[in-house]
Amino acid sequence: AYDVEHGEGGHMWREMQDQSAAAERVLRGRLDERFGTAHLGGLNMDARETRAIRRVKILGCGSAYYVGQMGASLIEELARIPADAEAASEFRYRDPVIEPDTLYVAVSQSGETIDTLLAVQEVRRKGGRVVGLVNVVGSAIAREVDGGIYLHAGPEVAVASTKALTTMFLAFSLLALQLGRVRDLSISDGKRIVAALQALPDQVEEVMSLSDSLVEVAEQLAAADSLFFVGRVRGFPVAREGAQKFKEITYRHAEAYQTSELKHGPLALISAAVPTVAIVPQDELTDRNVGALHEIAARGGPLVVVTHPGVDLGDVPCRRFDVPRSERELDPILLTLPLQLLAYHAASHLGLDVDKPRNLAKSVTVE
Ligand code: G6P
Repeated sequence: AYDVEHGEGGHMWREMQDQSAAAERVLRGRLDERFGTAHLGGLNMDARETRAIRRVKILGCGSAYYVGQMGASLIEELARIPADAEAASEFRYRDPVIEPDTLYVAVSQSGETIDTLLAVQEVRRKGGRVVGLVNVVGSAIAREVDGGIYLHAGPEVAVASTKALTTMFLAFSLLALQLGRVRDLSISDGKRIVAALQALPDQVEEVMSLSDSLVEVAEQLAAADSLFFVGRVRGFPVAREGAQKFKEITYRHAEAYQTSELKHGPLALISAAVPTVAIVPQDELTDRNVGALHEIAARGGPLVVVTHPGVDLGDVPCRRFDVPRSERELDPILLTLPLQLLAYHAASHLGLDVDKPRNLAKSVTVE
């Protein structure tokens, strides 16, 4: 178990602390400041093939699936290619149509997750092109794909993925940037993203330094039997990943919802006993998100808000945590980090084995 007094130790803790360095590793040698692009030689795709892509389909399981949803947004925003993510565990069972002008992307830390591997094989069997975002070099998925991006996160031992997830997000950013620049993304937009990516490792460090200030709130959340994590658009996969982390290591029921959908159902469950963790970035939806916070507060729901400096939350009673802003497309990763810390501190406070939650394996290699 852990030194609850200090609330720090073990693999997950160390892996969270390694995230800034891992971010540097995945970016190293891949950014081109002059042309505002990324160089990903391992994709094995030339400019003609890149321009021919009409759709991107991302496949992964667990946290890799949620970061895949973040990646889909990045690709749509930067490269203007329709993109979506799907749970790899479901993919092959619906006899999917494999299109020659779709780029399939398999995301996996271990490279051994059987559901993701079988999804890759389904794509290849039907003649599709699939690339991998994989951490473990030479793993089954890395060997099976047509090309890919290694994550260079280093070994990840804790079941709950932290630094691998961060490098997945950055690998998607690089992929979106390269796809975008070969297509219609302007050089100035490319340079804007390159500069923001270069700043991210330090910003990751800055968010990790919030750790102590999150302990008390995490302990309060640990006392609840049920919680909501809410966000919209770019913030929704952040909420999904936050809920996943929280439930997998604290064993509390944590459910992610689109903030916009609260009024269509879950608002009925909000009470003083059901806290909500809300993702409220500075973006085109800030005002609407703040409106939803009022709805939650009016029903007595305790609120924890992860937001950006300068966002006006009005008089909503809440515990607020500000993360630094990046470019809006890249904001999700910095918004995700406090949720790792919340889950970590809550589980440590409960005296649970943070690194090895019950019933779960780091990599699931049998169906
Ligand atoms: C397991 C782990 C999750 C992980 C998922 C995908 O379910 O418990 O933490 O996100 O597998 O693993 P992968 O190695 O494919 O990224």
